[in-house]
Amino acid sequence: MQTNKYRKILSAQNIVKRFPVKAGGFSSSAMYVHALNSVSFDIYENSTLGLVGESGSGKTTTARTILRVHEPDSGRLFFNLPDEGVSDEHDFFKYDRTRLKKERTGMQYIFQDPYLALNPKMEIGDIITEPASSAKKMTRAEREELAKHLLDIVGITSASISKFPHEFSGGQRQRISIARSISVNPKLIICDEPVSSLDVSIQSQILNLLIELQKESGISYLFIAHNLAVVFYMSDFVAVMYAGRIVEYSSSRELYDNPLHPYTQLLRSVVPEIGKGKKIYDKKAQGEVPSLVNLPPGCPFYNRCVKRIEGTCDKILPPLVKVSDNGGPSGHLCACHAVQRISL
Ligand SMILES: Nc1ncnc2c1ncn2[C@@H]1O[C@H](COP(=O)(O)OP(=O)(O)OP(=O)(O)O)[C@@H](O)[C@H]1O
Ligand SMILES: [Mg+2]
Repeated sequence: MQTNKYRKILSAQNIVKRFPVKAGGFSSSAMYVHALNSVSFDIYENSTLGLVGESGSGKTTTARTILRVHEPDSGRLFFNLPDEGVSDEHDFFKYDRTRLKKERTGMQYIFQDPYLALNPKMEIGDIITEPASSAKKMTRAEREELAKHLLDIVGITSASISKFPHEFSGGQRQRISIARSISVNPKLIICDEPVSSLDVSIQSQILNLLIELQKESGISYLFIAHNLAVVFYMSDFVAVMYAGRIVEYSSSRELYDNPLHPYTQLLRSVVPEIGKGKKIYDKKAQGEVPSLVNLPPGCPFYNRCVKRIEGTCDKILPPLVKVSDNGGPSGHLCACHAVQRISL
């Protein structure tokens, strides 16, 4: 039963995204980087879904495809619907440009490097009120009032309103990005590695600001990070990504206590504490991530997996299925033949 506590704000269904690459040699056939291979997950109101996985697993591509910065090759996306959207008419991926512009206001984003995200030639008062003023006409005075209010919320003095991005520290710039993203009262903010470019001493301040904002406004986050400790700290639910697939999904608590996929177990065994450096993969993570251009037929984690079943895992792609009822409204999902055999 879907209680109010677990009302979906976003449902991503079987998203596929591939990028063309130049074929080498004399080959005339097109080749593709298969960046997202049937990615599905739900995000609930007033909660955070953490998306974790190593570099190149497809986290940023997921974010950009949801925002339709990249157009998907296939899949469906339902966002901010009063009830469960089931028809194509409500598919975010099918909206025309006008409808997209309107609906996408409800979905904002914060990126890793706040300096790149902020126009260096604009005053911050204008930067943070830009999404709001492009959504609806505002007078100069209204913009100024909104800017001061937003700066106050994110803990920056309103006397700074006419300053430029370079006059702020990294942490302050990320606060400015956050102010900009909340200016339109979005339902969802996609945070792509929002603290990884910041000094460790500043990281938890920004994370706590995001948590405070959620408590006050009921906003949802898709929170992308390499660092599983940060993801556990921030998230109600966690999706683990590997080679363009979600390999495990459950509540954060369940995933912390009971990681099932061998890849999640590997990540879990090398978790650093918050603010203790970026490198989390050690020698245990032997083997190569498969090429996203020539994906193997079976499980993408096969060659690194300690639980692999020869003859099955190298031949048949394990689907993402429910393996236990623990872990929130959709249970604990895992894409692993070895785990599925035990749970049957
Ligand atoms: N515009 C693009 N053109 C071609 N390939 C791309 C493009 N964007 C991403 N890719 C490829 O898609 C795959 C997934 O990349 P993505 O940036 O989504 O990974 P990520 O999980 O965000 O990694 P990181 O942790 O390093 O940020 C990679 O192989 C990447 O090279
Ligand atoms: Mg990325």
